[in-house]
Amino acid sequence: MLNSKIAGIGHYVPEKVVTNNDLTSVMDTSDEWIQERTGIKQRRYADKHKETTTTLGAAAARIAIERAGITAEDVDFIIFATLSPDYYFPGCGVLLQRELGITKTEIGALDIRNQCSGFIYGLSIADQFVKTGMYKNILLVGAEMHSMGLDFSTKGRNVTVIFGDGAGAAVIQPTEEKDKGVLTTKLHSDGTYAEKLAFISPGSHGGYHAEKLGLEDRFGFDKDIEFGEIFATQKMMDDRQLYPEMEGQFVFKLAVTKFPEVINEALTEVNLKSDAIDMLIPHQANLRISQFVAKRMGLSQDKVFNNIQKYGNTTAASIPIALCEAWEAGKIKEGDLVCLAAFGSGFTWGSALIRW
Ligand code: ACO
Repeated sequence: MLNSKIAGIGHYVPEKVVTNNDLTSVMDTSDEWIQERTGIKQRRYADKHKETTTTLGAAAARIAIERAGITAEDVDFIIFATLSPDYYFPGCGVLLQRELGITKTEIGALDIRNQCSGFIYGLSIADQFVKTGMYKNILLVGAEMHSMGLDFSTKGRNVTVIFGDGAGAAVIQPTEEKDKGVLTTKLHSDGTYAEKLAFISPGSHGGYHAEKLGLEDRFGFDKDIEFGEIFATQKMMDDRQLYPEMEGQFVFKLAVTKFPEVINEALTEVNLKSDAIDMLIPHQANLRISQFVAKRMGLSQDKVFNNIQKYGNTTAASIPIALCEAWEAGKIKEGDLVCLAAFGSGFTWGSALIRW
């Protein structure tokens, strides 16, 4: 079986920089709180009239395609990971196909809704498709336009200050070199805590989960909801219930356990130890989480790439943006062992080891 490799990578972040101080004008927060807890100094917000999650993804994809030495028409499969799609349906995969001007219909387009682990899940899927010989030029994109779905009142501050917009993309191709490319991917999920970090409404749940779990107060679902109002009622809008929710400390505690666990699992599979890692690209959820993981893995800070300070948490885009920036900065060289790892909503988490 052939291995898969990343043949080209690109990223795009919108021009608009939003500093922590900018956020203090709309909600009760401070630069000090945000930096101390998360390491974030600023994030980017897209132009709401000219950009969408798909166009951000397309901008990153064009760079990845060019660097892979192919054209958009050569792409034979699209995988698009996002939690902030342009439409409820159809997904961003087909919108990206159109945006890139790919007119042939022999290709497939798949959307992934795995939040922070979306890029790793996508890479794992691409890897399997390449290994079986089904596709040769898979375009994998992680993109988010969080800024359109955040609560900018003080009620939403624990979530809103963390997230930013951006996109990263990679072209995955087969390689004949046995020890190169994706060595392994590990995927996990645990739905027990689905509501600990979630965007509950709008959705078709009708209060079912909230009632079963005794979470009515937290989600304050409108019991008078009618058919046809399936996604939101005026009351839900008035009560500002249509936003992401997170139990930060709960997520934090689990993340610092699961990151090292899933990295070690991948290393064990290929008979390597953490000292073999040349560059760890952790999902950029929180600088404190990355620092904790680096320490736990015995990795010096120069072997861990972080850019959350500039972009905040860009969810599905965070790993490909970081991977691309690390590569562009010359921090990833041919033959290096690169480790990707993510943990996020679901919960879903995963890792990938790549011999560059
Ligand atoms: N500004 C000022 N104060 C704030 C803010 C803010 N932006 N947000 C919360 N606070 C306050 C709270 O109201 C609380 O005040 P209180 O003590 O008076 O009640 C206090 O700060 C502490 O709040 P916590 O939520 O307990 O803060 P914590 O120290 O846990 O930090 C954080 C929050 C940064 C979110 C942290 O918990 C974290 O990083 N968690 C993990 C996030 C993560 O990994 N997510 C997964 C990936 S994202 C995805 O999957 C989509």
